[in-house]
Amino acid sequence: MDDLSRTDKFYLRGGLLSLLNEPELLHAIESRFARDVIYTSTGPVLLAVNPFRTLPRLYDSDCLNTFLSTEDPEALLPPHVYRTSWQAYRLIKCTGAPQTILVSGESGSGKTETTKFVMRYLALAGSGGSEAALSVVERQVLESIPLLEAFGNAKTLRNDNSSRFGKFTELQFSHHGQHENPRLASAQTHCYLLEKVRVVGQQQGERNFHIFYQVLSFFRARVAETPLESLELRNLALPEGMSHKPEDYAYLNKSGCHDLADHDEVHDFLATVGAFSALKMAEDVHSIVACTFAVLQLGNIVFEAD
Ligand SMILES: Nc1ncnc2c1ncn2[C@@H]1O[C@H](COP(=O)(O)OP(=O)(O)OP(=O)(O)O)[C@@H](O)[C@H]1O
Ligand SMILES: [Mg+2]
Repeated sequence: MDDLSRTDKFYLRGGLLSLLNEPELLHAIESRFARDVIYTSTGPVLLAVNPFRTLPRLYDSDCLNTFLSTEDPEALLPPHVYRTSWQAYRLIKCTGAPQTILVSGESGSGKTETTKFVMRYLALAGSGGSEAALSVVERQVLESIPLLEAFGNAKTLRNDNSSRFGKFTELQFSHHGQHENPRLASAQTHCYLLEKVRVVGQQQGERNFHIFYQVLSFFRARVAETPLESLELRNLALPEGMSHKPEDYAYLNKSGCHDLADHDEVHDFLATVGAFSALKMAEDVHSIVACTFAVLQLGNIVFEAD
């Protein structure tokens, strides 16, 4: 048996149970990764290797629907974040008992992206995979994600979208017995740890939290007369005397890094505003923008000895 068919066989049996030493385990993961197979399971643990690029069809709606509609993905489909999500969802459906998915790894390993795939699966499972049939709550849970990232994520040397906070997300499902699909009924995110010190200073090559640059990009785009017709933000004004350039703010201009490569931050700001709307907090956007500028303004205060 060559290496590849061996490693395939392990996952088809549901895990890497016969690979008990580290070199073999690493070899199996590497051989699979070389074929763009990023997921490997070992018992109940799913190992994921970050491909740092979009792999065709790995998460598209066909793939999601396959994992939603297959009677027993555990036996019939390869390791995948959707399969792990299915396992949790099935136990919620069959037993009504709480389930936990723990996502761990070093910075940049893909925890945030993985968590989004899990949440997407769990939100769509109740509607049979139909986006159109999502309930208000299911839609809100998915659409609220950019909000947490805008205020809690920042570019670091290791990850352009590094989560600078810890979170525990609790999803509650309605449960009407084994024959009906549980629906996502509410969600709560508990934040613990927030790297607040980043607001006042960042190391060389890193950035402050995304929201500051998103807001400034929005006003820059407006100044540059980029068409923003779709925005319901026409009456959002740059506060008097404030600049739209990051280099004019002490909290943003010390680390030598303002931009995110290959990224449209006006688009990101619209997603953040969209998240406010989804959560029925659209009227708070003006005060949030005002607070953002207030923080930047505080950083520009200079104290002098009398
Ligand atoms: N499954 C994936 N497919 C393709 N690219 C991915 C995948 N997972 C992660 N990435 C890429 O890797 C980057 C870093 O991933 P992510 O932000 O999820 O890491 P993280 O573990 O949450 O890091 P941190 O601890 O710094 O928050 C993403 O912005 C994305 O470009
Ligand atoms: Mg993260």
